[in-house]
Amino acid sequence: MNSPANIVLIIGGGIAAYRALELIRLLVKQGHAVHPVLTRGAREFITPLSAAALAGRKAHDDLFSLTDEVEMGHIRLAREADMVVVAPATANLMARAAHGLADDLATAVLLATDAPVLFAPAMNPHMWAHAATCANVELLRRRGAHFIGPEQGEVACGEHGEGRMAEPQDIATRVQEMLAMGHVAGADGPLAGQRVLITAGPTHEPIDPVRVLANRSSGRMGYALAQAARKMGAEVVLVSGPVALAAPEGVSLVRVETAQEMLQAVMQALPVDMAVFTAAVADWRVRFPAAQKLKKGAEGPPVLELEENPDILATVAALPGEQRPRLVVGFAAETQAVEEHARAKLARKGADVMVANDVSPRTGILGGTETELLILAADGQAQRLERASKEVNARRLMQHLAAMLAERGGEGSAGHEHASDG
Ligand code: C5P
Repeated sequence: MNSPANIVLIIGGGIAAYRALELIRLLVKQGHAVHPVLTRGAREFITPLSAAALAGRKAHDDLFSLTDEVEMGHIRLAREADMVVVAPATANLMARAAHGLADDLATAVLLATDAPVLFAPAMNPHMWAHAATCANVELLRRRGAHFIGPEQGEVACGEHGEGRMAEPQDIATRVQEMLAMGHVAGADGPLAGQRVLITAGPTHEPIDPVRVLANRSSGRMGYALAQAARKMGAEVVLVSGPVALAAPEGVSLVRVETAQEMLQAVMQALPVDMAVFTAAVADWRVRFPAAQKLKKGAEGPPVLELEENPDILATVAALPGEQRPRLVVGFAAETQAVEEHARAKLARKGADVMVANDVSPRTGILGGTETELLILAADGQAQRLERASKEVNARRLMQHLAAMLAERGGEGSAGHEHASDG
């Protein structure tokens, strides 16, 4: 049984809008708090009053309503949602969502939320089959949106084909399933009671007080994984090198500069149940960084002597007994023979899982917004995560890792005493 969730139900302007009323009734019956949002089009078919009566709370229908801004601004509505359901999702509403428009409350909520979104499309079969609609649906899907329907049948205009909104009962069931699968934050998420450590970003190794050896890692993948783990109920420590990203909500962030500082912060965060190493740690540091800024001079450019940095992943994977996380996960960015090289790295470093991605220039993954991942487990299992945004694949990957951790059993260590407490 799930705990009650905050569900924003966006009702689009189609004849199926009247069936959204039945959906409100079913979701309320499941114990959820339903916040209806009606588009201008929806108000041609049903009234805010009927939606509000069934939801037992105010129905929202105007982006710039002064009282809404005071009582519950649209950003708050979007941010506090555990899930957003769009039913009926018209071709127009999906097009606006796909292209990031925010010209009414419904689209503003869709743009501001990071909760899972479920679309239940409903429209004329020709509109559903149109290339423009297909492309918009594909775009939304890639960004992580979920879909239910449409179904075959007779649609309002009398035509027959695919375009009828899924049954309200089926939509309500899907909502329950998504809540249960941990697509949604909460204390009953699949990582509840588990402590997760994630390293992210590059490291900066000083040459002198103003110059560093660095790399182009953005930290996006690690931050997205931290957010995903948090949403699945974990207690998360994110140890991050210098990046331009905001701290994910609810995550304890430790900022470091160098590989040695990163290792120290990681050791202090132990014990943890799962450790995921996404950081692009510099392989070398300057052996004798200058105390003062190096000057151009007659003797020509300085020669930098380098020494090897500690391998943080290998160090943690080699810890004895209880000190070792039950699941140690590394990342392998490769440009050729991806699986072979990643498998070798998995064995060499003593990790349980290696997540490989192909960063050869043709993929556009390095520095880009999308990834395609290959999850390799030490027991020989492999699973591919198809191309999607880094955020979506972070969520999928964390779900996969949570399942692997659960298989390994053992009690979660969240809330116990930690070295960093002392
Ligand atoms: O750089 P390399 O390809 O060896 O990185 C593979 C994995 O090892 C990554 O997960 C990375 O975060 C981790 N690593 C580490 N400390 C290092 C080098 C790599 O934790 N010094």
